Amino acid sequence: MKGIVLAGGSGTRLYPMTRASNKQLLPVYNKPMVYYPLTTLMLSGCREILLIVNPQDIESYHRLFGDGRQWGLDISYALQAKAGGIGEAFLIGRTFIGTSRVGLILGDNLFYGDSLRAMVERGAAGSNATIYAYYVSDPTAYGVVEFDAQDRPISIVEKPKQPRSNWAVTGLYFYSADVCEVAQATPRSARGELEISDINAHYLKAGRLDVERLGRGYAWLDTGTPSSLLRAAQFVETVEDRQGLQIGSPEEVAWRMGYIDNAGLARLIEPIATSEYGKYLQRLLAMA
Ligand code: G1P
Repeated sequence: MKGIVLAGGSGTRLYPMTRASNKQLLPVYNKPMVYYPLTTLMLSGCREILLIVNPQDIESYHRLFGDGRQWGLDISYALQAKAGGIGEAFLIGRTFIGTSRVGLILGDNLFYGDSLRAMVERGAAGSNATIYAYYVSDPTAYGVVEFDAQDRPISIVEKPKQPRSNWAVTGLYFYSADVCEVAQATPRSARGELEISDINAHYLKAGRLDVERLGRGYAWLDTGTPSSLLRAAQFVETVEDRQGLQIGSPEEVAWRMGYIDNAGLARLIEPIATSEYGKYLQRLLAMA
């Protein structure tokens, strides 16, 4: 099982915050945005991860993640020179994927919910393509999936003006290795992009698409505009403050998943022991 985090793009809707900084490096409350999707992928059991980034941001990502070894991961990097659609991840990542099943997550998607781990483990273990749908008030900014009376998916349309349902397709996807060939054979859309919705529509037509619906007990949050970014930060702050537990901490997830042991976590804490984040990790270790 391999994983790809797509963290390129120009983040124009967040300008001027994104003028000198990559969107997925902006903070969502107390962590870089990309920590949230990265940890979601880690929860699926994925440890070999490819980060697709803009050429001008690779140094920052290197500083943030290195080779991932500190978290029991194997992180490598690839460049996307200009935005050409989410589906390009499977052209850029072809060698990396090889013959493995692969999970793809968008670097700006924040998932939260009690059974998240079991849900993403199912996606990782499946043999069909697995995507996730979430009920939203306004689905026009997303891929939209329509279901028949038996709850079977029957259509997927990218950013429809007249959506046929309220079920938005989230930015988390699992495929078998043949997704690279499917992507290769998928024509570009009118806006010149290799649309993930076209790839998903291909699997749907072939009868090889599972759509898992995230119930209302999950949060799937958008960070694409200044107000949605603020709301996501407020959500994280609200939950973390109430519970005293953090959302999206790679150190914690690595430790809980057994990717690193107590000594490994202690080593990570040492240089950041005086920060709030370091103190949080210290408390986890003390409770172990
Ligand atoms: C992309 C996908 C869309 C999906 C969304 C989830 O849209 O094209 O199908 O619903 O991510 O975040 P974008 O955010 O790139 O406009």
